Amino acid sequence: MPAPQKSRVTGIKNAKGKPGKSRLAKEQQPKVIEEKSLETRIPPETQQLILNIFRNSFKERLESDIQPLLQEVKGHLFDRNFKEAFGREDYLEAYAARWSPSRALGYLGVLWRMRESLNLMQTTEDESSEAEGSSRKSWKVVCLGGGAGAEIGTLGGLHRLLSDEHKERGDGQPRSMEVVAIDSADWTKVVDQLTQHITAPPPLSKYASAAVKAANRPLADPTAFRTTFHQHDVLTMDPKTLAAALESVNLVTLMFTLNELYSASISLTQQFLLRMTESLEPGAMLLVVDSPGSYSTVSLNGADKTYPMQWLLDHTLLVDTSGGKAKEEVRLWEKVQEDDSRWFRLDDRLEYPIELENMRMQLHLYQRL
Ligand SMILES: C[S@@+](CC[C@H](N)C(=O)[O-])C[C@H]1O[C@@H](n2cnc3c(N)ncnc32)[C@H](O)[C@@H]1O
Repeated sequence: MPAPQKSRVTGIKNAKGKPGKSRLAKEQQPKVIEEKSLETRIPPETQQLILNIFRNSFKERLESDIQPLLQEVKGHLFDRNFKEAFGREDYLEAYAARWSPSRALGYLGVLWRMRESLNLMQTTEDESSEAEGSSRKSWKVVCLGGGAGAEIGTLGGLHRLLSDEHKERGDGQPRSMEVVAIDSADWTKVVDQLTQHITAPPPLSKYASAAVKAANRPLADPTAFRTTFHQHDVLTMDPKTLAAALESVNLVTLMFTLNELYSASISLTQQFLLRMTESLEPGAMLLVVDSPGSYSTVSLNGADKTYPMQWLLDHTLLVDTSGGKAKEEVRLWEKVQEDDSRWFRLDDRLEYPIELENMRMQLHLYQRL
């Protein structure tokens, strides 16, 4: 387990009071959700179940000498040679086994605290009475840059937490989840392996007691948790294909991916965000998580200018295309929450075959108006 790192945690902040924010963001007065009323601690037992999903999905890889592979992957990532880093199946498995588990737990904490804003407290019963005649009952999430499996592990865990909470309250089943991962690398096998392990009862020792065997159940019911994977570069993805993938979506995630997109091309990323905006229905949420203090450099007339990632994002989503302040009638997004720096620390009781790390993230939640 890594040594505890010094924390610089800030609570959910109202963008209005933040220094250095654009005037627009200040004037928008984002809604600040009071999260304290909800239980935010994730039971370590549930966190361990998620780590077990990764351990069982990549068992052979973790039981072999994974370190040389990880060094190679790290080298390519360091050189920003993503084609190489994500271009081989053994690299992808090693990446998913090493970096996705702690991220899955970190993201679970984020989504669990946001569950009310994300409308996840609804049960299937509430939904069927609300959406009479509608065939759409599930909660659809599109994870852009989400092939490496962290988001899949998170959502499997989220489904379990919601099921446990509903069971405790005796108020029906949580909504089923439809997870669509889109990524430029071919993560098909990783997504399939994780999904299989999430939706099947975990393997038990042959010495397990009858009671343990009887209680053994999958992290998420296979009828209530479905995933699909599509390989696309989101920056050059055909707009119709993008619109079809985003149809009826409740949440889009960009986890540790947006800064990579901005680094590849700020203008293509802005165009992509606008195409995505056009395709989303009012009410859809967008969650962006990335390293705190991510910057991208734009060259203008030969001079380099550096912009913080969240400034670029706010500029694209909250300002109209003419560059002026978005008037009420043309505002397309509202910022719901933001946090410039949040720590996720691994519980000392958790077990995993290789070392995992604490993580720090900035997060931004928007709602399509
Ligand atoms: C740093 S990894 C983050 C993975 C995962 N979302 C997480 O949080 O652990 C960035 C991911 O974005 C994907 N990616 C980068 N550029 C992309 C693009 N233009 N289109 C689609 N996916 C992209 C990479 O293949 C990789 O899987």
